Amino acid sequence: MTRHAVVLIPGDGIGLETSAAMQDVVAASGAQIDWEIAKAGAAVMEEYGTPLPDETIQMIKDRKVAIKGPITTPVGTGFRSVNVALRKELKLYANLRPVISIPGAGGRYTDVDLVIVRENTEDLYAGIEFEEGSEEALELIDFIRERGKGDIAKDSGISIKPISVTATRNIVEFAFDYAKAQGRKLVTCVHKANIMKHSDGLFLKVAREVAEERAGAIEFNDRIVDAFCMNMVMDPSQFDVIVFPNLYGDIASDLAAGLVGGLGLAPGANIGADYAVFEAVHGSAPDIAGKNLANPTAQILSACMMLDHLGEQDCARRIREAIKKVYAAGTCLTGDIRTRDRSVAPASCTEFTKAIIDAL
Ligand code: NAI
Repeated sequence: MTRHAVVLIPGDGIGLETSAAMQDVVAASGAQIDWEIAKAGAAVMEEYGTPLPDETIQMIKDRKVAIKGPITTPVGTGFRSVNVALRKELKLYANLRPVISIPGAGGRYTDVDLVIVRENTEDLYAGIEFEEGSEEALELIDFIRERGKGDIAKDSGISIKPISVTATRNIVEFAFDYAKAQGRKLVTCVHKANIMKHSDGLFLKVAREVAEERAGAIEFNDRIVDAFCMNMVMDPSQFDVIVFPNLYGDIASDLAAGLVGGLGLAPGANIGADYAVFEAVHGSAPDIAGKNLANPTAQILSACMMLDHLGEQDCARRIREAIKKVYAAGTCLTGDIRTRDRSVAPASCTEFTKAIIDAL
């Protein structure tokens, strides 16, 4: 079997537990992975003066494939998200998040099988922000008023929402290519083009152009984001591949995860032309970190996506089957899983991981 060098950023919070679980399961599947551990996050700030050291970026550039645990981002103040920086630095323009019902995982539906394709580089995540009361914010407010574009209250903070033709075209083409490669039938574009005509409106216009160019086996439709949320909650089976601008894609990922049993089950991948970084949808869960309570399924399923990407589909398939077996048995599940029999104590992260390894 081929050996693969993969960069691992264990992350912080529950990332330390879920990353260790993921490594154990991947090793037990027989995949030959040489893990190269890279640093990122608050813990390395002091040593490197940045939460994302250059050597971490360089390691991923050299190895091309990485998997990471979640990294805590301070809210409101402090450093910007390492995750967002990594996506920008490596031009990981597509965030791919498959959402599938796992029998026994406590989802509200049994027939969810959809894929979220989220634009990963711009929109309100561009990180272009103006602090309330700063000189720049006041200048911008004056500029906008002078141009007759509207009055913004002087005590406002401002975040900019850029959406470009190029990035939209890239992500919608990615969604169509992915749909074709996976034998899927429908691409849905989600937006709020009725209100934000020059950002979401552009996203929808470009999506329609790409759909027209790709007219053929794959159908195309669109939904306004608020109606989409209702449609998802009422009948998620109507969706197949869904393409979003960055922020709606982020929110919809958690919504979709909630429909199939929670964040503990939702894997993801950040993909660019040259590199791929795999990571679960969830964050570092400070409320349960260090207690051996985390559900590692999402990170293990992210590793399955990584194994597919590396050409180790057989190992990925065996791990997915083992996960299904453990959920179907229902006797060794972590506490976040809703259908867990309350008379049985929840399994720890390590007990659950062992159950998967035993089921391989
Ligand atoms: P979160 O996803 O960490 O937690 C939300 C809720 O879900 C919590 O109650 C948590 O206990 C639960 N949860 C999440 N993952 C779980 C798992 N695997 N097993 C069992 N329960 C799980 O979201 P939150 O609290 O908004 O963010 C915490 C930190 O994580 C923040 O600093 C945030 O910026 C960061 N974050 C990092 C991400 C990344 O590195 N990719 C993604 C999302 C958030």
